[in-house]
Order: sequence, then structure tokens, then C-alpha cells
Amino acid sequence: MYQHENGLFTTDFLEKIRDKFLYVDWDPYTGQRIYFEASGGSLRLKSVLDTMARETALPDELFRYNPASDHTVEVMNKGIEDVKLFVGAKNGYIISTNSATHAMARVIEAITAHIPGKNIVTTQLEHPAVLSSTKYFAELRGLEWRVAPIDKESSSVPPEAILERIDQDTCLLAFQHASNQTGIINDVKYIVQEARRIKPDLHVLVDAVQYAPHGHIDVEDLDVDAYAFGPYKAYCVKGIGFSYISERVAKLPHLKLIGKPETDWVLGSPAPQPFACWSAVIDYLCWLGSHFTSSSDRRDQIVTAKKAITKHMQALLHQILYGNDGVPGLNDLDHVTVCGMKGGLEQRLCIFLFQLAGMNATEAMNRYNQEFHIRLAARVRDSYSTYPLEGLDWSDAVRLSAAHYNTPEEVVAFLEATAALKAK
Ligand SMILES: Cc1ncc(COP(=O)(O)O)c(C=O)c1O
Repeated sequence: MYQHENGLFTTDFLEKIRDKFLYVDWDPYTGQRIYFEASGGSLRLKSVLDTMARETALPDELFRYNPASDHTVEVMNKGIEDVKLFVGAKNGYIISTNSATHAMARVIEAITAHIPGKNIVTTQLEHPAVLSSTKYFAELRGLEWRVAPIDKESSSVPPEAILERIDQDTCLLAFQHASNQTGIINDVKYIVQEARRIKPDLHVLVDAVQYAPHGHIDVEDLDVDAYAFGPYKAYCVKGIGFSYISERVAKLPHLKLIGKPETDWVLGSPAPQPFACWSAVIDYLCWLGSHFTSSSDRRDQIVTAKKAITKHMQALLHQILYGNDGVPGLNDLDHVTVCGMKGGLEQRLCIFLFQLAGMNATEAMNRYNQEFHIRLAARVRDSYSTYPLEGLDWSDAVRLSAAHYNTPEEVVAFLEATAALKAK
């Protein structure tokens, strides 16, 4: 047995999971610490570090037709296939850039340049990756920039708010699969289906940077044109971003090297190491999934792993809010305000915002660090958080973001710290 009835991984299995990661409960600069900052960057897999070192050592360029060069080609092809497996792509293409932001910007640039229309629709809850690119290209192309507002009580953007902004002249709909601020998961399939009732050939880009490490993905089923994520939020390395793109987007005119096929988006010589590292992530997910399915099919194993991950994270979120074994949850603490969760927990990642009475977010983050060695993030009105915080009507907030390697014991430590953390 690897998972309890309530969804939590068993202690033994969680130990096995944690043993696969680096710096799980300490780092060389702090010593012991609890890491609830998956949204900023997840813990890295040990296998990723080994792979990075092994592949970085090889100098060989692609297509020199010697064994080392052939190995490099293989590594890159396998990495691409493993991205496809991860997102469930049977058709379409995978592009890689140096960040998810960059991948999305390239796609938004191509769509807004070549798809006729008069407006772009996005949401107030977006990361600047989507907000900045949609705003910039809307201004450049003379398109109206339509931003669907946040509903404060649910800390989400209701589908209707998005849909009522779409019309026959919408060039692009760009929105998140899940929020990096409030953890809300959008029903992408429903939103896309309903949006295409209004404009049947609507182009849709999904920012999956926060969702991809944790939830089930099937881009064929979602029927989107672009689906981007960043490996460093998914147990891997920084320095690369991937996006699935549909065939029709791949074929749009875009900057490419002369003589390359029309669907090639590669600029320059990509580093092969991150591709190999991505395959190490997929091996890990397959390993995790293989505990819950007898199938040896890697896609089945990934899908099963994600289901198990989702259950564990939901159980952690429940425990954080409602407490456990006599430890009060955040909802029981008078000096804590948790950002709107109306609508239940099923459609949420274990990512959320909260405030402590009489303390600003930066002070709270620093005190969690210094007094309890707990890593959280302060969200303030900067480039990353101004739009969402304005929409929520919050000056600032502390963000907790968990991943499936976090334990119920870490949650208890966080709750006890929070109960003790009062304004001075
Ligand atoms: C929802 C979301 N989108 C985009 C990004 C940007 O990703 P990258 O740093 O890979 O460009 C982030 C980073 O935190 C994010 O949370």
C-alpha cells in the first residue's frame, strides 16, 4: 500500500520519494529547513543532477555522425518524445526556448502577426509571462487587450468572465491552467469548448507552468494550440522552457533558420543536457506511477503518477486549512486570513495566499525564515503580482506552495509556526 484512504502517500513511500530529491529538508546555506516554495522552483531530482553532469561533459555537436554525436541526437529526440508523453501529444510539435515565458512570447508573436482579429483575451490572474506578451503584442498590432477580472471570493477568474470577452474578432485567448498565486485550476477543456462555440477556429494558448508539475495533462483532449511549461518547476533544471504547439501554429510564419523545415522553431544550438534531464524526470514519474498501475506503458504510468500526486496534494491542502490530530488549521486561527477558496478544494493545487494580522508579507516571510526555517514567498505589488493582487484587493500576501514530496509533518510544523507567529 502506497497511499492512505485520505490521499496521503504512506510514510514509507513518501520517504522513498523524498530520497529521490536533493536538499529535501536542508540546504547548505541554511541547514535544516522546510521547503514550501515549489511555485518558485521545485526541489530537483538527484537523477537530474547526475544526468546534467554526464551530458554536460560531452562536447559533441549534433549530426557529426560519430557515436558521441549520435548519442547527443538521441538524447534530444528522446527529450522531445518525453515532453510529448508528458503532455499527451499525439500530433503537433514541441518547441524549446530558454524559458516558458520566452516560448509563450514566440507563440503569441506568431499568432498575433498572422491570425486576423481585433482583440486578445486574457485574465487578471495571469503571470507577467502572459500579461506582458499579450499586452505588448496587442499594442504593437493595434488589438484591444481584454482582461477578464478576478472574482475575490473564489480567487479565480470565472469562465463566464473569459467567455463574455470573446467574439468573432478574438485573435487569441491566453490563460493559465492553474494560478501561481491562488492555486485555482481552470477548467481548460470547458473554457476552450465554449469559446469555440463563439469563434470556432479560435487560437488558444495555455500557460501550464504551475499546473504541469502536479496535474493530469492531455493536450489532445484540451484541444489547445499551445501549452507551455518550465522544467524547473517540475523537479528539473532551469534554463529551458517547453511548449507543445499545434500543427497550425507550428506552420505559421515565424523567425527560423534559412533552409530549415517550415515547422522548425529552433534558433541557434540548443543545449542537449536539459533534454536528457527532462527524460530523467519522466523516468521518475514512471517509477512513481508504476507503484499504482501494473501497466508498463510509460504514458499510463505518468497519468497514474499524476493522479496519485494530485490526491496527496489535495490531502495536504485539506490538512493545512482544517488541521489534523488536534493541530488547528489555518481556518481555525483568528490572526490568519486565507485568500478566497469559495467553490471547494477539488479545483485547487496546494498553492494559496494568506495574510497574518498586523504583519506585512515580507516581514512574515522573513520571520518564517528566521524563526522557523520555513521557506514561503512574499507576494508584493511588483511585476509578478500587481495584477492579481489588485484583482484580489490585497496589498500583499504570503504564498505557500507545496509539491508531492512535502509531508504531513511539514504541514504540522508550518501550522504550529503560524499559530505562534503573531505581530510584535
Ligand atoms: C504561471 C506562470 N507562468 C509563467 C511563469 C514563467 O516561467 P519561466 O520562468 O519558465 O519563464 C511562471 C513562473 O513562476 C509562472 O508561475
